[in-house]
Amino acid sequence: MSSWQLGTINQADELEPILAIEQRSFRWPWGRLSFEGELSCQNACNYIVKSCANGTGEQVVAYAFFRLAADELHLLKIAVSPAWRGHGIATRLLERCFTIRAKQGATSVHLEVRPSNTAAIELYLKLGFEVIGRRHKYYADTKEDAVLMMKNLKEEL
Ligand SMILES: CC(C)(COP(=O)(O)OP(=O)(O)OC[C@H]1O[C@@H](n2cnc3c(N)ncnc32)[C@H](O)[C@@H]1OP(=O)(O)O)[C@@H](O)C(=O)NCCC(=O)NCCS
Repeated sequence: MSSWQLGTINQADELEPILAIEQRSFRWPWGRLSFEGELSCQNACNYIVKSCANGTGEQVVAYAFFRLAADELHLLKIAVSPAWRGHGIATRLLERCFTIRAKQGATSVHLEVRPSNTAAIELYLKLGFEVIGRRHKYYADTKEDAVLMMKNLKEEL
């Protein structure tokens, strides 16, 4: 990606591009109410990537939503617009989020992922996450287990 910038979303009327990416990224996507709930939650933090490429103007191409509990960051959602995948955007987005949050005191990041989501698991392993467990039938929709992963953020400082 030639030029990109990290930002945040604060207003519900900024959610349209995120909802569009969400619909194309997940079989069971979050609806508007779930995202609005994150915007109004005190412990939530969200990041978006905006691209300014080929003179097409700014567009949201990726997002990541987290919750912070004490010094633990929990990754709830990450998605990259299908046309923009495979260019290192998720890697750079997460690395930037981890550096920012580590500087503000977060010491670890945790997440759950479907075992069938090999792209996401490969991404997390490449970023230094370790598998720390499994939650049986965690996903209500498919009864799939969740793989639990964790990364120490101390080395991000
Ligand atoms: C998972 C996802 C966020 C990756 O975004 P991305 O910007 O394409 O990822 P990157 O380009 O930074 O890739 C980093 C690494 O992830 C892994 N990876 C990414 N896509 C992959 C794929 N389709 N298959 C296997 N590994 C993949 C590779 O290890 C890659 O490193 P490499 O390029 O050196 O091989 C993106 O595919 C996506 O939005 N998927 C749908 C939403 C989703 O499943 N989110 C995760 C929920 S837990």
